[in-house]
Amino acid sequence: MYKKKPFFIVFEGVEGCGKSYQSKILFNKLKKKKVDVVLTREPGGTKSSELIRNLILKDYFSKDSKEKFDKYTDTLLYLAARNEHIKNKIKPSLTKKKVVICDRFIDSTIAYQVYGKKVDINFINNIHKKILQGITPNIVFVLKVSMASSKKRLKKRKAKNRYDNFPQSFYNKAQNAFIKLAKKRKNYFTLNSSLNDNSLEDEIFNITKKYLNIK
Ligand code: TMP
Repeated sequence: MYKKKPFFIVFEGVEGCGKSYQSKILFNKLKKKKVDVVLTREPGGTKSSELIRNLILKDYFSKDSKEKFDKYTDTLLYLAARNEHIKNKIKPSLTKKKVVICDRFIDSTIAYQVYGKKVDINFINNIHKKILQGITPNIVFVLKVSMASSKKRLKKRKAKNRYDNFPQSFYNKAQNAFIKLAKKRKNYFTLNSSLNDNSLEDEIFNITKKYLNIK
């Protein structure tokens, strides 16, 4: 029997891995089971965090290429968005014993900023100590995708953001980082997302049901 409890589910992976799609599917499946569930994303999730998101992602397309955000400015913006998101959405939802599904969280910062851009991890860890308020995901789904499928999916996208334009080596680095981070933890599930059938959503739902004690 499902008993209400705070539960935090995170989806991670590189662009075109299908995590936004899979988080929506899981959200709908849980709603059908009458679970009180919230779907959100990073960067973003609240009005102020979405404003910061726009600022970060539009920077890539600014005409003056000499005036791009420094990687530390960029990192601070991700962390600023996260702070707003935790304070105003994630924490209050978990306090109300809701299930929160988040499209990206702290591992994206480790994969993209630390492994990808070589930002000092201590800088990030120190800020996380202040802003995370002890919140850690109960389960993380890392969706692994072949670079060919990722490229194919990105090509179909209307709205592009700057990471859609990064070289393949950047995605490789980020994906390897996600996989490495997942190997260290029992509550991380690295799942293959290259196939286009229902098996992935079934697997995600089955794992989640076990944790939440849903039939
Ligand atoms: P999205 O395309 O999944 O919505 O994410 C927006 C971009 O932001 C994506 O390219 C990954 C990037 N990102 C970081 O670089 N660091 C972070 O901490 C987060 C949350 C996202």
